[in-house]
Formats: sequence, structure tokens, C-alpha cells
Amino acid sequence: MPASDGSRPDRNLALELVRVTEAGALASARMVGKGDKEGADQAAVDAMRGMLDTVHMDGVVVIGEGEKDEAPMLYNGENVGDGSLPKVDVAVDPLEGTTLAANGMPSALSVMAVSQRDTMFDPGPCVYMEKLAGGEDIADLLDLDRPLPETLRLVAERRGVGIGDITVVVLERPRHERQVSAIREAGARVRFILHGDVSASLLASSPDAPVDLLWGIGGTPEGVISAAAIKCTGGRLVGRLWPRNDDERQAAVDAGYDLDRQLTEEDLVAGQDCFFSATGITDGDVLQGVRFRARSATTESLVMRSRSKTVRRITAVHDRAKLRELDGVRFG
Ligand code: FBP
Repeated sequence: MPASDGSRPDRNLALELVRVTEAGALASARMVGKGDKEGADQAAVDAMRGMLDTVHMDGVVVIGEGEKDEAPMLYNGENVGDGSLPKVDVAVDPLEGTTLAANGMPSALSVMAVSQRDTMFDPGPCVYMEKLAGGEDIADLLDLDRPLPETLRLVAERRGVGIGDITVVVLERPRHERQVSAIREAGARVRFILHGDVSASLLASSPDAPVDLLWGIGGTPEGVISAAAIKCTGGRLVGRLWPRNDDERQAAVDAGYDLDRQLTEEDLVAGQDCFFSATGITDGDVLQGVRFRARSATTESLVMRSRSKTVRRITAVHDRAKLRELDGVRFG
């Protein structure tokens, strides 16, 4: 009999989820570079929806993509899976980095995470979150209440390097100008990304990464998904809700959110058995994108489980003729 308490191996749901993110990546990869964000997102959503019904789980979407910019979505509250146990919360971003995919730029992903029911953080009205993420060896140093330059000095000391060797990956946004200046004045480096802080969080928290930290204000849904990944790889993500204006602040306070609180990956995904899968759409630091050949398409995925801390990289070769036969899925 399989044990669900972790004392013996049991079913690893991530090995089913990978088919879903592969489907999302394969479908949206057909739209890469075509300048059509909505079309690329819709292709991923449709493909994932079709494949999700085959996953043996009773899932409720807690984190769906699309509220912020009205992208097509797997809507919050939607039931997904075939309805069998386990009961789980689902966080899904069919296309993380819509602009990246539309413009043929690096690091677009198809991604989802699953955790026991009622264990994923519901961000309510809060679209953005300030985030700081890094590897396991510096987890205890990550604190949003400490000035960032001071944290950079502590990280450099812990890693036995000079502060000039420390690199922080940051979304390039006007709202980050003051902190970017502070990072540079402290002597550290900045690596800007245009989009895709899930991929950047994964990079910053992985061992031997080319960057030391991720800092910045990005999407709250992406924060929850990144937290699920970091629970699997080790490392730390701390986040704090960041209302965009007074109305959003008031709505969050009225809904009972504590805007001063720092949330760790354990608060964002409280379950002790969470599963994560991401498949590359375009080539990036973390994953290779979809490669199309005459008869086949190749995907690369990161497939992980928090309880066992197993991290798998799965390269799959898909037969394009077979993909085209699948009903309702536009793999092209
Ligand atoms: P989309 O896939 O929805 O386009 O989000 C991409 C992204 O860059 C996220 O990775 C990031 O968390 C968020 O958008 C940042 O939001 P904004 O572009 O509004 O600053």
C-alpha cells in the first residue's frame, strides 16, 4: 500500500502535471514571435485545459492567470482534474511571460503547481508583491525590513565574495529605480529582465546560479507559483503585498490582509506536499524552449516535489502528427 505520510514512496503528482505544462508550452510555442500576446496565452490555456482533465486529482484553481490584464484564463474557483483524490489547490500560469513569447524573447514558461486543499495563499485584491528570493545558504539573510544594500553585504560575506561579485536580478520597471540605484551604489550588479520573475526566482534560488538574488515588485500570482518551486528546490522567497493605490490598499485592509507582514514560501504555499512543473516555451537560463523539427517537437521541463525534494529535468520528444490528432488542442 502506498503511504501518504512520506514514510514510503507514493504517487508523485508532478509526473502527471508535466503533461499539462508540456501541452501549454507546445501550443503557445506555435505563437512565439507572432506579436500576439492574447493568442499565445489562449493557445496555452486551451491546451492545458484539455490535458488537465486527465490528471487524477480534485483540483480547485486558486491562482489563475489573467485578472490583472484580462488575459484568457483558467479562472479562480474553477474545478480541474478528473475529480478523484487528492483534493488540491492549483496555481496555474499557462503562459508566464506573454510579452516574451509574443516577441520571441527568452524565458517564457508554461507552469503550474499543486498543493493540498486550502494551503495556497489567496492574494485577494493584491495584484503585486515585493519579493526577495535566493538560495538555501542565504535563506536566513532574506528580510524585506532590512535595507537591501545591507542584505547584499551580508550575502557577499556569507558567500565569501566581494559585494562587487553579487548580482541581483530585477524586473526593469520605473518603480524599481530607487532600489536599482541603491544596489549599484552599494557596489553590486543588476541583471535586468523585462518579464518573467518566476523563471528569475527559480534561477536565483538554484545552486551555482549566475545571479545571487531576485528583488522586485512583481505579480502576486507569480509569487505564489515561485514559492511552490522554492519549496521544492530549497531556498527562500519572502514577499510583502504591494497595493498599487489607496483603493487597493483599503480593499486589502477591509478583506483582512496585513500589508506589513512578510510572507515566506511557507506562508504562500503552506502544504507539506506540493508539486511543481514548468516547461520552457522560449529558451532561457532555466529551461530550453520548444524545438520544432519536421516530425517532432522537443520540450524540456522541470518537475519537482517538495516532500521528497526530487528535482527532475524531463526532455520529451513529441510526435507532431500525433499531437495534431488530439481533439481540441492546437499544437499546429
Ligand atoms: P504575464 O505573463 O502575465 O505577461 O506576466 C509577466 C510578468 O513579467 C511576471 O513575470 C511578473 O511577475 C509581472 O508580469 C510583472 O508585472 P508588470 O509587467 O505589470 O510589472
